[in-house]
Amino acid sequence: MKRIYMDNGATSYPKAPGVADAMSRFITDVGCNVGRGAYAEAFEAQRLIWELREMLCGLFDGPDPKNVIFTMNITQSMNMLLKGVLKSGDHVLISPMEHNAVLRPIHQLTAEGISYDLLPADSVGRLVTTEFESYIKPNTKAIICTHASNVCGTINPLEKVGEFAKANKLWFIVDAAQTAGVIPISMKNIQADAIAFTGHKGLLGPQGVGGFVLTQQLSDEMTSLITGGTGSHSESEIQPEFLPDKFESGTPNTVGLYGLHAAIKYVLSEGMDQIFAHELSVTERFISGIQKLDGVRLIGEPTMENRTAVVSLDFEKLDNAEVSYLLEKHYAIATRVGMHCAPLAHKHLNTFPKGTVRFSFSYFNTNEEIDQAIEAVQTLLNEVEE
Ligand code: ALA
Repeated sequence: MKRIYMDNGATSYPKAPGVADAMSRFITDVGCNVGRGAYAEAFEAQRLIWELREMLCGLFDGPDPKNVIFTMNITQSMNMLLKGVLKSGDHVLISPMEHNAVLRPIHQLTAEGISYDLLPADSVGRLVTTEFESYIKPNTKAIICTHASNVCGTINPLEKVGEFAKANKLWFIVDAAQTAGVIPISMKNIQADAIAFTGHKGLLGPQGVGGFVLTQQLSDEMTSLITGGTGSHSESEIQPEFLPDKFESGTPNTVGLYGLHAAIKYVLSEGMDQIFAHELSVTERFISGIQKLDGVRLIGEPTMENRTAVVSLDFEKLDNAEVSYLLEKHYAIATRVGMHCAPLAHKHLNTFPKGTVRFSFSYFNTNEEIDQAIEAVQTLLNEVEE
């Protein structure tokens, strides 16, 4: 049975055409360390990685390609951003839909005198910016929020959040895990100081490459969580202050960066509008099929307004973990069940600790696959009734 992959919220599959070849070419033909050699292959790698910074800067409408910092993933990006800027006595505001990539570093920082509160959100987890005012304290320093929930797909009104953050002189840091490569984000329009991204979800690249784009103002306020060799100013024991070197120490995942370069070229050539339109079309088909069934509850936004292709379901008379298991065992349908590393979001959605069965679609899912998934869910529900 051919696998029907519906776990793109965790990582996209398949990857963009060209990704595997680009990575293989780096291993086979290029094989050098970036910024550390003065020979042809090292220059080629340097040029390609600069081009990648340019593409990412364009994707997020960032200040400058040098302000694109590469890390392994959003977790590393968030640790660097939060631990780099927050100091004892600071207070921060986060959305109740945050992933553990934000919640755990923030929680860890409470031991160092940093406090946090959850911002108000509606029943599908969308921030209610009109109620933000009363959450501000004299020591509030930042707002950190996800662009879209990895549990139920709700998209946050980033422009309004950014407006509020700037009116109150707060840093505004966005987690674009579920939207980078699918929904255009302009750092300038939303007035964000940093956007954290990962390469292996909507950008259709490999795992182990991600990063963040930040403003010079935020960089100036930050210390580098990780310091070390940068291939620049090597005579000095002091970490360079200029970007990207301030935040990029050690040999990067160059093979992954080659893959990400090919992936973004593909995303740009297809066009994010076309990619997102397809994702929403299969999502609408799935939701409308599921809504006709008894015994299963859709968690989150029921319309196609301000949502991504992530759909969470709760089965009333079946164990959600068993549903996910049976979908894979009998129908080769890959989903993710449980907390999705976002316990806060499940608490907000009243699905804690049971969790949900999550279907998350990509540009490569077809209508036929959607129909097979609806039919599989229907069969499982019918078996309970019998
Ligand atoms: N954060 C990823 C997910 O939502 C891994 O599944």
